[in-house]
Amino acid sequence: MKRLEKLYEGKAKILYKTEDPTLMIQYFKDDASAFDGVKKGTIVDKGVINNQVSSRIFQYLEENGVKTHFVKHLSDREMLVKKLDIIPVEVVLRNVGAGSLCKRLGVREGTEFEVPILEFFYKNDDLHDPLINDCHAITFGWATKEELQVLRSSGYRVNELMEKFFKERKIRLVDFKLEFGRHEGEILLGDEISPDGCRLWHWDTGEKMDKDRFRFSMGSVEEKYQEVYNLVCSDLG
Ligand code: TMP
Ligand code: ASP
Repeated sequence: MKRLEKLYEGKAKILYKTEDPTLMIQYFKDDASAFDGVKKGTIVDKGVINNQVSSRIFQYLEENGVKTHFVKHLSDREMLVKKLDIIPVEVVLRNVGAGSLCKRLGVREGTEFEVPILEFFYKNDDLHDPLINDCHAITFGWATKEELQVLRSSGYRVNELMEKFFKERKIRLVDFKLEFGRHEGEILLGDEISPDGCRLWHWDTGEKMDKDRFRFSMGSVEEKYQEVYNLVCSDLG
């Protein structure tokens, strides 16, 4: 499958049309941004790693009954995906306190949650992706009540599966963000699942292995992304 014209360029990925109107090619860049694009930079070979890691996780989720947009890992930086009408509601799952939740609610970083916390955010950079609830999404037409129910149940299921997957690879899944979209009457999990959109701490050392290293200029960004790749994709053969 060849890529045709560019459909959309985001901060970390580009979407291209293909000869099949129902399929697109998702191209992974090395560009990194944080704090709504205020901080910009490059993480060398991030695109290659995120494409591999996402492909492996989508494949695992599909094997466990989760419907995703993933079709095929095409090349180093290209993934073939089903075309989605993206729902502008980001779904965040949290197992351990970190990031915006700690700031917002005064929770100590590292607090373990007995029950995972699910949050919805409105996908809108100009508004800095604000926290929302069901009423906002329904009233302003971002998603229906039924769709939110699918996002919620799918979010919890993906969290269960991913926590197990990462634990087996010595990684603590602290939190992560999911995006969903509509495709031929179904809701599919979209976007990517990588150290860009997850907080991943080493199980034994607690060391951060995700985009927080770039956000807070902690150093060894490439090395830690590579370590995630090694742990996640070690069973690829
Ligand atoms: P937060 O603590 O900043 O709300 O982030 C929660 C999770 O969502 C974290 O794993 C990082 C991810 N995330 C994104 O993927 N994109 C974003 O724009 C933001 C703000 C967070
Ligand atoms: N991805 C967002 C940005 O580019 C925020 C973040 O991940 O911190 O600004």
